[in-house]
Amino acid sequence: MGKVLVTRRLFDEAVDRLNEHVSVDLNPTDRILTPDELREKLREVDGVMSLVTDRIDSALLDACPKLRIVANVAVGLDNIDLGAATRKGILVTNTPEVLTETTADLTWCLMLAAARRIVEADSFVRDGRFEAWGPRMFLGLDVFGKTLGILGLGRIGRAVARRAAGFGMRILYYDPMDVSGVLAGDLGAEKAPLEKIYAEADFITLHVPLLAETHHLLNADAFAAMKPNCVVVNTSRGPVVDERALIDALRSGTIAGAGLDVFEREPKIDPKLLSMPNVVLAPHIGSASHETRLRMCMMAAENILVALGGERPPNLVNVDAWDRRQQRT
Ligand code: GLV
Repeated sequence: MGKVLVTRRLFDEAVDRLNEHVSVDLNPTDRILTPDELREKLREVDGVMSLVTDRIDSALLDACPKLRIVANVAVGLDNIDLGAATRKGILVTNTPEVLTETTADLTWCLMLAAARRIVEADSFVRDGRFEAWGPRMFLGLDVFGKTLGILGLGRIGRAVARRAAGFGMRILYYDPMDVSGVLAGDLGAEKAPLEKIYAEADFITLHVPLLAETHHLLNADAFAAMKPNCVVVNTSRGPVVDERALIDALRSGTIAGAGLDVFEREPKIDPKLLSMPNVVLAPHIGSASHETRLRMCMMAAENILVALGGERPPNLVNVDAWDRRQQRT
């Protein structure tokens, strides 16, 4: 059925599955391929299992005449030029659903850790500074009963909302799409304009894809409109937040804290963030549980095998590319 590039070492199970039907060019290391290496390897293959660390742009796709499918091991697709792939009839797939609950869990980890100052408290204990219980030691913010603002009520946003019900939270959400049908009233989430969410939410969490429309969705104006006790959590994509404005807001006390799994210039982290005690940081691990990462890799492998077998892959994102291919055959 052809040859497939796997850009980075991942689960053997997924590589074995591919090997049953295709020849695999596996980068056996955990090192990101350089743009030159990626181009050299990609021009030889019919399919690629790519990761968020692989930038697949229009120029690269131009250099890969054989390429028929890009299976991204992620739900987000901002590392791929979707428009260019579609114009070329290259199928692009992602890994939705399987990572929803795991990413919602991590969102809650960051929210709770930021609210209750867990990382600071952990360091305090490890540093041997816990000499006596103190009535005002590490006072944080309550989470239960507070108002949660969810920006983007897609699959992950809804999974976060379901967890909020257990904390007796009032939920406000913003989503430009009409998601009222999928809510079925069960989540008790109220649709609200951004201004109302900024004015009323104690916690704001981001679950939008990175698009031109969502770039810097949270900017200086947004932070200025938030409550001073507000904690912002980002497990979506770094550039959805204007990181400089966030740092200013955290420094000036415009907002209270943040939990960040993603960064604007990832993997570069602004050193100012590193010195802030009211920020909890993670290295883009939203979907990083054993079970979920394996499921994501297996899903990407299946998408590749189906596509190279001539069928429409189950998690196809650019349907127009499929139509284009059908017209050609
Ligand atoms: C990870 O960031 C993903 O988009 O799946």
